[in-house]
Amino acid sequence: MLDKEISQAVIGRLPRYFRYLGELKDNGIERISSKDLSILMKVTASQIRQDFNNFGGFGQQGYGYNVEYLHNEIGGILGLHQKHHLIIIGAGNLGQAIANYMNFERRGFIFKGIFDSNPELHGKSIREMQVQPMENLASFIQEQQIDIAVLTIPKSAAISVAEKLVQCNIKAIWNFAHVDLNLPNSIQVENVHLSDSLMKLSYNINRAENT
Ligand code: NAI
Repeated sequence: MLDKEISQAVIGRLPRYFRYLGELKDNGIERISSKDLSILMKVTASQIRQDFNNFGGFGQQGYGYNVEYLHNEIGGILGLHQKHHLIIIGAGNLGQAIANYMNFERRGFIFKGIFDSNPELHGKSIREMQVQPMENLASFIQEQQIDIAVLTIPKSAAISVAEKLVQCNIKAIWNFAHVDLNLPNSIQVENVHLSDSLMKLSYNINRAENT
């Protein structure tokens, strides 16, 4: 199903479909038409059909989609049927906030450890895990089969730490540091910039005030 290249824009919309379908499922809704889903999600029905056609359309038959089936299929496409082991590098404000957010585990992202270069933080307990020195990183990644590293360290340190992670055979980096990482294509990098979202909000405030 995933042989052809799917655009990142479509992939970017899948988590939202997954979330809405999960809520429908939890509320006992068994079927939904693309029209009703479009009203709920405030996107056009044709956008939904086009997005789903990338994956064979998910067999909309008679009245709409089977919610549980669709939720399950999209979860599978997003790779959520398998668990991911993650570590956090940088046990400062952001690293601790992410570590303390338990909900990622519901989606199969299992928090395994947290690292920092500051000796004063070593041994500090965050969600029952002790902050470890960077010297433990390579062996921990190997032993615990870590596939994702969350980078919550300053920009100045991010590139060298990312390179070290590549040497440790990490599969993916969730990068919060405000710097682009030029890593081999085999390493998946997702950059997160909360300020991008705020700037979008600012644009929309401006537009609303000027129309
Ligand atoms: P913080 O200063 O509270 O924490 C940073 C931690 O990284 C410190 O504990 C420090 O000891 C550790 N660290 C520094 N160099 C290291 C290295 N080489 N190896 C391991 N650990 C190292 O900073 P905060 O507020 O938690 O922010 C962390 C990063 O996230 C910053 O780069 C900040 O700009 C960025 N950030 C990004 C956001 C986004 O939306 N992308 C939002 C907020 C912060």
